[in-house]
Amino acid sequence: MAARSLDALVVTSMPNILYLTNFAGSTAIAIVTADRIVFLTDFRYVTAVSAQQGTREECPGLELVVVTGAYDSSLAASLAAMTAAQVGFEAAHLSVSRYEWLIRELATRSAGSAPAKLVSTEGIVERIRTTKDDHELWVLKEAASRLSDVTRRVFGLVRASRSEREIAFDIDHEIRRAGFDRSAFETIVASGPNAALPHARPTERKLTEGDLVVLDFGGVYDSYCVDLTRTVSIGPASARAREVHAAVLKAHGRAIQATRPGQSRFAIDAAARDALAEAGMAEAFGHGTGHGLGIEVHEDPRITRPRGESDYRDEAVTPGMVFTIEPGAYFAEWGGVRIEDDVVVTDAGVEVLTNVTRELVQI
Ligand code: GLY
Ligand code: MN
Ligand code: MN
Repeated sequence: MAARSLDALVVTSMPNILYLTNFAGSTAIAIVTADRIVFLTDFRYVTAVSAQQGTREECPGLELVVVTGAYDSSLAASLAAMTAAQVGFEAAHLSVSRYEWLIRELATRSAGSAPAKLVSTEGIVERIRTTKDDHELWVLKEAASRLSDVTRRVFGLVRASRSEREIAFDIDHEIRRAGFDRSAFETIVASGPNAALPHARPTERKLTEGDLVVLDFGGVYDSYCVDLTRTVSIGPASARAREVHAAVLKAHGRAIQATRPGQSRFAIDAAARDALAEAGMAEAFGHGTGHGLGIEVHEDPRITRPRGESDYRDEAVTPGMVFTIEPGAYFAEWGGVRIEDDVVVTDAGVEVLTNVTRELVQI
């Protein structure tokens, strides 16, 4: 904020608010200054926030403002009372209509003096979130270990004649039973030709002998997301299935080998991509190699090809970053393979947090 000459930053992204304050409710606004956090929330959450402030590990010292009407009216009133000249807002998390309303409202409330200037910012909190602290790493390691246990149980749920939807339902149940708050995203069970769609939704299709089945699921544990994929075969795998699985596994291994402090995230992606190209499967790998994990299941850093000139910012991965490695190969009408694990960059290199066999399991 100092580097951007901001007197205050209005935080409207709920994941960013959770990161800064531990508030896990659905609606709030935080105004952050060098020495204060003014926290706007409504009746539904006042008791919870007051209780949080009393405990040592939760965010103490929030200045609570109880919103009784519209959030943005309270926001404008709080900003006017703070006499901040330069006020940053999160461009990715404030709609154009709210922004335009705020400008008019601040001008009205300034009563002749210069109104606060709204300054567009991007990624101030998100960038801090990319590097996990010791507590976050503890939570993510615990979550990854629990998700690995879930995966071993999932292999027992998959068999011929069960439908994708039945299996997805059981996976979600196992995730909850393992102590997760909820699934991190809609569980994917994609069998046979459906496995050609990287983000397939489970259908009524029943698994049959010879299918490859992509199983992709994740959980939210103590507010942090983990994410894992394994591809299994119903009955003995065909030569082609083994070939594709081996190529994806090689790409996965190369990407992990390439992961170390200071390495370009584009180079990690290229390591996986080159391995699939060597196997003649470059075209079959159309998505990124990985994504950051944390309060959101998809966050920075993005382990992808560069997306235009401006993407060369924040290129290197550094210790404490947690992300997935999840190459895949997809062939329309035939099916596909994806293998996904969660890793953390360490001072020495990389540590893989999820721990389940990566061999092609034949059920
Ligand atoms: N299915 C979400 C992911 O693996 O990124
Ligand atoms: Mn996944
Ligand atoms: Mn993923």
